[in-house]
Amino acid sequence: MKILDTERLILRFQTTEDAEFILELVNDPSWLKFIGDRGVRTIEDAKNDILNGPIQMYKKKLGLGFLLVERKEDQAPIGICGLIKRESLEDIDIGFAFLPQYRGKGYAYEAAASVMAYGKDTLGLSRIVAITRQENHHSIKLLEKLGLQFEQLIQLPNNPEEIVLLAWNRQ
Ligand SMILES: CC(C)(COP(=O)(O)OP(=O)(O)OC[C@H]1O[C@@H](n2cnc3c(N)ncnc32)[C@H](O)[C@@H]1OP(=O)(O)O)[C@@H](O)C(=O)NCCC(=O)NCCS
Repeated sequence: MKILDTERLILRFQTTEDAEFILELVNDPSWLKFIGDRGVRTIEDAKNDILNGPIQMYKKKLGLGFLLVERKEDQAPIGICGLIKRESLEDIDIGFAFLPQYRGKGYAYEAAASVMAYGKDTLGLSRIVAITRQENHHSIKLLEKLGLQFEQLIQLPNNPEEIVLLAWNRQ
Protein backbone atom coordinates (compact mmCIF):
# COMPACT_ATOMS: atom_id res chain seq x y z
CA MET A 1 0.00 0.00 0.00
CA LYS A 2 1.33 3.40 -1.01
CA ILE A 3 1.86 5.73 1.94
CA LEU A 4 3.97 8.60 0.61
CA ASP A 5 4.58 9.94 -2.86
CA THR A 6 7.38 12.31 -3.92
CA GLU A 7 8.58 13.58 -7.29
CA ARG A 8 10.70 10.49 -8.07
CA LEU A 9 9.71 8.00 -5.37
CA ILE A 10 6.93 5.98 -3.79
CA LEU A 11 7.14 4.88 -0.15
CA ARG A 12 4.99 1.85 0.66
CA PHE A 13 4.65 -0.93 3.22
CA GLN A 14 7.10 -3.82 2.93
CA THR A 15 5.75 -7.28 2.19
CA THR A 16 7.44 -10.69 2.23
CA GLU A 17 7.73 -10.35 -1.56
CA ASP A 18 10.48 -7.77 -0.89
CA ALA A 19 12.67 -10.49 0.68
CA GLU A 20 15.25 -10.57 -2.14
CA PHE A 21 15.79 -6.82 -1.91
CA ILE A 22 15.99 -6.85 1.91
CA LEU A 23 18.49 -9.73 1.78
CA GLU A 24 20.73 -7.60 -0.46
CA LEU A 25 20.27 -4.43 1.60
CA VAL A 26 21.06 -5.91 5.03
CA ASN A 27 24.19 -7.62 3.67
CA ASP A 28 25.53 -4.50 1.95
CA PRO A 29 28.97 -3.60 3.41
CA SER A 30 27.79 -0.15 4.59
CA TRP A 31 24.78 -1.66 6.35
CA LEU A 32 27.03 -4.22 8.06
CA LYS A 33 29.51 -1.49 9.07
CA PHE A 34 27.12 1.21 10.24
CA ILE A 35 23.99 -0.64 11.31
CA GLY A 36 25.11 -4.17 12.13
CA ASP A 37 24.77 -7.79 11.13
CA ARG A 38 21.20 -9.05 11.43
CA GLY A 39 22.28 -12.58 10.52
CA VAL A 40 19.93 -12.60 7.54
CA ARG A 41 21.52 -14.96 5.00
CA THR A 42 18.71 -16.52 2.99
CA ILE A 43 15.44 -15.46 1.36
CA GLU A 44 13.63 -17.33 4.13
CA ASP A 45 15.56 -15.35 6.80
CA ALA A 46 14.67 -12.13 5.00
CA LYS A 47 10.97 -13.05 4.88
CA ASN A 48 11.00 -13.71 8.63
CA ASP A 49 12.86 -10.46 9.23
CA ILE A 50 10.17 -8.52 7.32
CA LEU A 51 7.38 -10.32 9.20
CA ASN A 52 8.91 -9.82 12.64
CA GLY A 53 10.26 -6.31 12.09
CA PRO A 54 8.45 -3.88 9.79
CA ILE A 55 5.14 -5.76 9.58
CA GLN A 56 4.88 -5.91 13.40
CA MET A 57 5.66 -2.19 13.53
CA TYR A 58 2.89 -1.36 11.01
CA LYS A 59 0.41 -3.27 13.18
CA LYS A 60 1.36 -1.30 16.30
CA LYS A 61 0.65 1.95 14.43
CA LEU A 62 3.49 3.72 16.20
CA GLY A 63 5.31 6.05 13.86
CA LEU A 64 5.36 4.75 10.31
CA GLY A 65 7.62 1.74 10.49
CA PHE A 66 10.29 1.29 7.87
CA LEU A 67 8.75 1.78 4.44
CA LEU A 68 10.15 0.42 1.22
CA VAL A 69 11.33 3.18 -1.12
CA GLU A 70 10.57 2.43 -4.76
CA ARG A 71 11.77 4.46 -7.74
CA LYS A 72 8.85 5.59 -9.89
CA GLU A 73 10.63 5.38 -13.25
CA ASP A 74 11.26 1.61 -13.07
CA GLN A 75 9.61 0.43 -9.82
CA ALA A 76 13.07 -0.59 -8.54
CA PRO A 77 13.24 -1.07 -4.77
CA ILE A 78 16.11 1.23 -3.78
CA GLY A 79 16.05 1.59 0.00
CA ILE A 80 14.05 1.81 3.20
CA CYS A 81 13.11 4.85 5.21
CA GLY A 82 10.71 5.49 8.05
CA LEU A 83 9.90 6.42 11.60
CA ILE A 84 10.08 3.85 14.35
CA LYS A 85 9.56 3.66 18.11
CA ARG A 86 12.32 1.70 19.81
CA GLU A 87 12.07 0.50 23.38
CA SER A 88 15.54 1.90 24.01
CA LEU A 89 14.65 5.50 23.03
CA GLU A 90 12.03 7.80 24.46
CA ASP A 91 11.19 9.50 21.16
CA ILE A 92 10.28 8.31 17.68
CA ASP A 93 13.34 8.18 15.44
CA ILE A 94 13.96 8.40 11.71
CA GLY A 95 16.07 5.84 9.90
CA PHE A 96 17.12 5.07 6.33
CA ALA A 97 19.35 2.87 4.20
CA PHE A 98 19.80 2.70 0.44
CA LEU A 99 21.61 0.28 -1.86
CA PRO A 100 25.00 1.71 -2.94
CA GLN A 101 23.99 2.22 -6.58
CA TYR A 102 21.19 4.56 -5.49
CA ARG A 103 23.27 6.77 -3.15
CA GLY A 104 24.59 10.21 -4.06
CA LYS A 105 21.49 10.95 -6.15
CA GLY A 106 19.43 12.77 -3.56
CA TYR A 107 16.96 9.87 -3.22
CA ALA A 108 17.67 9.39 0.48
CA TYR A 109 17.02 13.08 1.14
CA GLU A 110 13.85 13.07 -0.98
CA ALA A 111 12.44 10.04 0.87
CA ALA A 112 13.51 11.20 4.32
CA ALA A 113 12.15 14.73 3.80
CA SER A 114 8.71 13.28 3.04
CA VAL A 115 8.94 11.05 6.12
CA MET A 116 9.88 14.05 8.29
CA ALA A 117 6.93 16.02 6.87
CA TYR A 118 4.61 13.08 7.64
CA GLY A 119 5.93 12.96 11.22
CA LYS A 120 5.51 16.69 11.72
CA ASP A 121 2.25 17.34 9.87
CA THR A 122 0.28 14.08 9.92
CA LEU A 123 1.46 12.56 13.19
CA GLY A 124 1.87 16.00 14.79
CA LEU A 125 5.10 15.04 16.49
CA SER A 126 6.91 17.80 18.34
CA ARG A 127 10.21 15.95 18.41
CA ILE A 128 11.89 13.50 16.03
CA VAL A 129 15.29 12.00 16.85
CA ALA A 130 17.90 9.89 15.08
CA ILE A 131 20.79 7.75 16.21
CA THR A 132 23.88 7.00 14.21
CA ARG A 133 27.46 5.87 14.66
CA GLN A 134 29.91 8.73 15.05
CA GLU A 135 31.85 7.82 11.90
CA ASN A 136 28.72 7.61 9.69
CA HIS A 137 29.35 10.99 8.08
CA HIS A 138 26.88 10.48 5.19
CA SER A 139 24.08 9.77 7.64
CA ILE A 140 24.94 12.73 9.89
CA LYS A 141 25.13 15.05 6.86
CA LEU A 142 21.71 13.90 5.66
CA LEU A 143 20.17 14.26 9.13
CA GLU A 144 21.51 17.81 9.44
CA LYS A 145 20.13 18.62 5.98
CA LEU A 146 16.75 17.39 7.27
CA GLY A 147 16.89 19.84 10.18
CA LEU A 148 18.10 17.59 12.99
CA GLN A 149 20.88 18.85 15.22
CA PHE A 150 23.47 17.13 17.37
CA GLU A 151 22.28 16.77 20.97
CA GLN A 152 24.54 14.36 22.76
CA LEU A 153 26.46 11.11 22.69
CA ILE A 154 24.47 8.25 24.18
CA GLN A 155 24.82 4.52 24.85
CA LEU A 156 22.10 2.00 24.11
CA PRO A 157 21.49 -0.85 26.58
CA ASN A 158 24.01 -3.72 26.32
CA ASN A 159 26.32 -1.78 24.01
CA PRO A 160 29.41 0.08 25.22
CA GLU A 161 29.72 2.18 22.04
CA GLU A 162 28.88 5.88 22.27
CA ILE A 163 26.61 6.87 19.38
CA VAL A 164 25.27 10.24 18.28
CA LEU A 165 21.75 11.41 19.14
CA LEU A 166 20.42 14.11 16.84
CA ALA A 167 17.02 15.74 17.15
CA TRP A 168 14.48 18.03 15.54
CA ASN A 169 12.26 19.90 17.99
CA ARG A 170 9.16 21.90 17.12
CA GLN A 171 9.78 25.54 18.01
C1 LIG B 1 23.07 7.41 4.84
C2 LIG B 1 22.62 7.29 3.40
C3 LIG B 1 21.14 6.91 3.35
C4 LIG B 1 22.83 8.64 2.71
O1 LIG B 1 22.50 8.53 1.33
P1 LIG B 1 22.92 9.64 0.25
O2 LIG B 1 22.58 9.10 -1.06
O3 LIG B 1 24.34 10.03 0.53
O4 LIG B 1 22.00 10.88 0.66
P2 LIG B 1 21.31 11.99 -0.23
O5 LIG B 1 20.03 11.51 -0.79
O6 LIG B 1 21.20 13.17 0.68
O7 LIG B 1 22.28 12.27 -1.42
C5 LIG B 1 23.35 13.09 -1.18
C6 LIG B 1 24.17 13.42 -2.38
O8 LIG B 1 23.49 13.26 -3.63
C7 LIG B 1 23.81 14.39 -4.48
N1 LIG B 1 22.78 14.51 -5.52
C8 LIG B 1 22.96 14.06 -6.78
N2 LIG B 1 21.83 14.27 -7.48
C9 LIG B 1 20.93 14.88 -6.67
C10 LIG B 1 19.59 15.35 -6.84
N3 LIG B 1 18.92 15.22 -7.99
N4 LIG B 1 18.95 15.90 -5.77
C11 LIG B 1 19.59 16.03 -4.61
N5 LIG B 1 20.87 15.60 -4.39
C12 LIG B 1 21.54 15.02 -5.41
C13 LIG B 1 23.86 15.51 -3.49
O9 LIG B 1 24.57 16.60 -3.99
C14 LIG B 1 24.55 14.88 -2.31
O10 LIG B 1 25.95 14.91 -2.45
P3 LIG B 1 26.88 15.42 -1.26
O11 LIG B 1 26.58 14.52 -0.08
O12 LIG B 1 28.24 15.29 -1.81
O13 LIG B 1 26.43 16.84 -1.01
C15 LIG B 1 23.44 6.21 2.62
O14 LIG B 1 24.79 6.55 2.71
C16 LIG B 1 23.24 4.79 3.14
O15 LIG B 1 22.29 4.11 2.77
N6 LIG B 1 24.18 4.30 3.99
C17 LIG B 1 24.13 2.94 4.50
C18 LIG B 1 23.07 2.75 5.56
C19 LIG B 1 23.22 3.73 6.68
O16 LIG B 1 24.31 4.02 7.15
N7 LIG B 1 22.07 4.23 7.16
C20 LIG B 1 22.03 5.17 8.28
C21 LIG B 1 22.12 4.45 9.57
S1 LIG B 1 22.07 5.58 10.94
